[in-house]
Amino acid sequence: AFSGDVTGLGVPVGDLRRAPACSGPLPALKPTDSHTVLIRTDLLRPGEVPEPYPSPHQLQDRWDDTHVKLPCSEHNLFPADRTSRWDLIHKALSVPFSSAHDVKNAYLSFLLVFFNLYVLFLFMLFFCSLCVQPIPLLRTQRCRSLTLSQEQVSCLLANAFFCTFPRRNAQRTEFSNYPDINFSRLFEGSSQSKQEKLKTLLWYFRRITQQRPAGLITYTRQCLQRLPSWSSSEKQFSKLRISCEGTIEEQGYGMLQVDFANRFVGGGVTGSGLVQEEIRFLINPELIAARLFTEALEDNECLIITGTEQFSRYSGYSDTYRWDGNHDDQMPRDEWQRRCTEIVAIDALHYRNFLEQFHPEYMSRELNKAFCGFVRPGVQTENLSTVATGNWGCGAFGGDTRLKAVLQMMAAAEAERDLMYFTFGDADLLRDIHHIHTLFTDTHATVGSVFSLLLQYYECVCKKTTGGKPQETLYCFLSEHL
Ligand code: AR6
Repeated sequence: AFSGDVTGLGVPVGDLRRAPACSGPLPALKPTDSHTVLIRTDLLRPGEVPEPYPSPHQLQDRWDDTHVKLPCSEHNLFPADRTSRWDLIHKALSVPFSSAHDVKNAYLSFLLVFFNLYVLFLFMLFFCSLCVQPIPLLRTQRCRSLTLSQEQVSCLLANAFFCTFPRRNAQRTEFSNYPDINFSRLFEGSSQSKQEKLKTLLWYFRRITQQRPAGLITYTRQCLQRLPSWSSSEKQFSKLRISCEGTIEEQGYGMLQVDFANRFVGGGVTGSGLVQEEIRFLINPELIAARLFTEALEDNECLIITGTEQFSRYSGYSDTYRWDGNHDDQMPRDEWQRRCTEIVAIDALHYRNFLEQFHPEYMSRELNKAFCGFVRPGVQTENLSTVATGNWGCGAFGGDTRLKAVLQMMAAAEAERDLMYFTFGDADLLRDIHHIHTLFTDTHATVGSVFSLLLQYYECVCKKTTGGKPQETLYCFLSEHL
């Protein structure tokens, strides 16, 4: 048949669940041992800017291993003479920038035309009055959530812009297992991509200084203690829609949107990276704040971020990325005043050699990682939105799209969620994935039976291949053996 113009296959898009329509009621927002809430929940009202908790201007200063070290802390001192860094920041920069020449960096002078840094700076100084409660670190192997207001997040980001976070500039500090948060590397060099990144971030700062954002954001580190036994899973494959047009962030609204992450969340967003994860962190800059408190992800962990807003549009990708103007985010808010945008950061493994990824240990690792990102213990299946994903781990990280698609289908089935897969323009992949999924469902294959076939493929095909790619493709092998 002439199917050259097919752009989507599988179940109709209308059959897939999205938030908020599919979501169940939320419990009342209140702090617990594992959930820190930095605002006054009793005063939370739709459309109003949330109030910090406990009360503004009463900073509870914590300078220890389990909390973020704040720039305005009284412990933030110069080692030589024990004078306050924060005081110095106040003094040195509270002279208004009268002209672009005040700023040495040619780059910033260009940007000054575009945005008044001074306003942002005052905003940063406002910091101590907004984040009064100590911010716990989301440390490895601990499940913990953190809810902040969008305004508090914007203050954290203004500080990141001015590189004021202490203990976060040198490599060897107690934060060596955390991503970079200060934006210093963004100001290095003058490539077009750096300029476009800065434009995108400055647009965000312009928006939030013009109008105070009124919502909340939750950052959750999810760690799984018990992982599925893949070989004995009886789960059947869930629904699948595949599209070679559109993107996760645009056509996947209301779905669980996958961030093709680095174990240091945000990857190269504050440096030179500019692919799926970095782009998402630029257009939804509130994601960047996660870098302040999220320790590197381990194999059984993911980070779930609910409520971030998209402020910018973009065009292009990687080297051709361009800021493309304002975006007015229309996502409704939930009862906690969070935008119904749920993003999950899951980091694939970086493969340098094609055959490596078929090793049982690595296939299990990726299955567990995706499952960790998709599963929501305690949530009813009918309340789970579809997972919006695509070529996870198959760009910068060099994985095989056809293997990763099967692994993600298995993880989604195990977590009882449907899948919307964006092939990012690849029409052959669209057809292949559809074919293999149809085969799984037509033969009533279980996740366990497909896992056994993956192991067989490794034993019978990959192990006998020396270098390069196997003669028999995975999909041929699966089609023959199912
Ligand atoms: N929607 C759907 N698919 C997309 C989108 C999008 N918006 N953008 C890209 N793709 P990549 P990785 C497709 O390379 O291999 C970052 O630095 C497109 O086909 O970003 O997991 C992280 O911080 C693309 O080739 O993900 C990590 O360090 C493919 O998805 C590292 O890259 C993979 O996108 C992760 O690399």
